[in-house]
Amino acid sequence: MRKPFIAGNWKMNKTVAEGVVLAAGLKETLAGVTDMELAVCPTATVLSAVSAALIGSNIGVGAQNMYWEASGAFTGEISPSMVKELAEYVIIGHSERRQYFGETDETVNRKLKAALAYGIKPIVCIGESLEQNKAGETVSFVGGQIRGAFADVSAEDAAKVVLAYEPIWAIGTGLTATPEDADRIIQAAIRDVLVELYDTATAEAIRVQYGGSVKPDNMAEFIVMPNIDGALVGGASLKVDSFTGIVKNAMAALNA
Ligand code: PGA
Repeated sequence: MRKPFIAGNWKMNKTVAEGVVLAAGLKETLAGVTDMELAVCPTATVLSAVSAALIGSNIGVGAQNMYWEASGAFTGEISPSMVKELAEYVIIGHSERRQYFGETDETVNRKLKAALAYGIKPIVCIGESLEQNKAGETVSFVGGQIRGAFADVSAEDAAKVVLAYEPIWAIGTGLTATPEDADRIIQAAIRDVLVELYDTATAEAIRVQYGGSVKPDNMAEFIVMPNIDGALVGGASLKVDSFTGIVKNAMAALNA
């Protein structure tokens, strides 16, 4: 069975001092959580301090981005080995990076292969725009993102990938997909495509988070859906109370 996984994407928020306070709070409130994988993804400059603050906790740490080259003249970029020193996970291809920083399915694929080569656990984001959603193009578009991301990735490596299905129109807006729609799209655009690219066992092994305005109040209805294995949380991951509420409500729903 797929282990549920909830991760917080802090985006460009929290200084070192603020990040350490948030991490210390989560370490305490989430200490009793078992049977669920947890992670927070701070800004690169905060990774070191947050990793230190979370030693001995059940919360992993992830980077929000990295470059695929090993080293060299790539001013401003962070290499896989640099991430590997400080983090267990890396978010790849978040829609904000695709929108503002020119990431494409091809750069996502290169970053994914680099993460896998270095033993960093990738969280690959996919999701459609409002226009694509309204035009009925969601399944073909997200399916295309999956094909692009997994190009030349072996089945063995693919099974290690976590996907985050995040409809762009639901990110930071307070709007969410309905759990039924999210589940249906994950089946049609993600699992069915993974069966085609690999096989049923691989498609069933890959965990898929839902992302987009996840809050304590709506977590339960998503986590109980058969295709949804957790959440990637933005805004509500910035406070101890709300991230803890999301995790606890997910646990309660799964144990009900
Ligand atoms: P949100 O962001 O929870 O603030 O909508 C989710 C994300 O972008 O990962």
